[in-house]
Amino acid sequence: MKRIYNDINLENRNSFGVKQQAAMLAEFETAEELKELFEELKPTKWYVLGAGNNTLFTADYDGVLVTPICSKRTILKDDGEWVDVRVEAAHDWDEFVAWSVDSGLWGIENLSAIPSSVGAAPVQNIGAYGAEVKDAITAVEYFDTKELKVVRIGCEECGFGYRESIFKHELRGVAIILAVEFRLHRTPTPNLGYGDVIKEVEARGGATLKNIREAICAIRVSKLPDPKELGNAGSFFKNPIVPSIVAERLRNEYPTMPSYPVPNAEDRVKLAAGWLIDQAGLKGYREGHVGVHDRQALVLVNHGGATGGEVLHFAEFVCSVVRTKFGVDITPEVNIL
Ligand code: EPU
Repeated sequence: MKRIYNDINLENRNSFGVKQQAAMLAEFETAEELKELFEELKPTKWYVLGAGNNTLFTADYDGVLVTPICSKRTILKDDGEWVDVRVEAAHDWDEFVAWSVDSGLWGIENLSAIPSSVGAAPVQNIGAYGAEVKDAITAVEYFDTKELKVVRIGCEECGFGYRESIFKHELRGVAIILAVEFRLHRTPTPNLGYGDVIKEVEARGGATLKNIREAICAIRVSKLPDPKELGNAGSFFKNPIVPSIVAERLRNEYPTMPSYPVPNAEDRVKLAAGWLIDQAGLKGYREGHVGVHDRQALVLVNHGGATGGEVLHFAEFVCSVVRTKFGVDITPEVNIL
């Protein structure tokens, strides 16, 4: 059933915990309800607010926030090896991962404990510990707000890249994701190459799905703040991708600087924004209500009472310090409204 709220406080609907208001928020369960909503309201300004884990409101929102509340999970096909699952947009991401692990299904275990809804996962192609959600997605179903109809596109049409998808570009302001289809599998394919993952998995007795999930959850808890305790939106910045020549110059100066190859782009290198911010001396640094997290410099935190504007101002300061020290631009990963 759809529900409309006017002049709603967003404090409990964004993981940064900023106290902003929205003129209207509409919750919907089905594509038919969404169609009615767009026919009735004809909103000129709207934004999909899922679980609010990757959005920073810097002012009151004067349009319509659209929030899916549909969360069914359906097995479409199971041939004994491959299992196709359709999951509706409001399903909690980590509950889906937990279900896959309990069901003996491989493919998304490295993406454990990411605060997200399923519908938000393809938008920024969530990724962690050497895995990206695009590798498990087969299709995305969305409501086209221009044509007022449901469209289903295959993974290859989603324009996935590092924290990128068509939903951030051509389909921004057009698509509202209704459901995502995944293909998981039963043959074990442990992906333990990133950082401390192998060490943590071995400490738990080897590469079972359960051990991998537990290891990833433990690593995340040790580095990342829980939004329920300290407002944040995970990585605030993307890891910057720079020309190899820039990385080379920096590596000469900072031989221990981490850097990663970029698939299909030999002339470009990905740097670690967390490392740059840390080396710029900002880890744990705080100004008023906003700060850089003291265990992972890529995360900005609301120490309590920060406005979205203060967070944005602080983020701009962090970018300028990094630019001055390293000559590298870092850009937000978080959606800023
Ligand atoms: N580093 C520092 N200081 C810091 C943070 C990081 O020196 O304060 C160094 C680390 O020692 C390491 C490198 O930077 O050498 C990379 O750090 P880490 O492995 O923690 O990963 P990240 O690149 O900072 C990315 C994702 C995270 C994801 C981790 C693990 C982005 C923007 N972030 O962070 O995703 O959990 O890898 O795979 O790509 C998120 O998107 O919200 C998120 C938390």
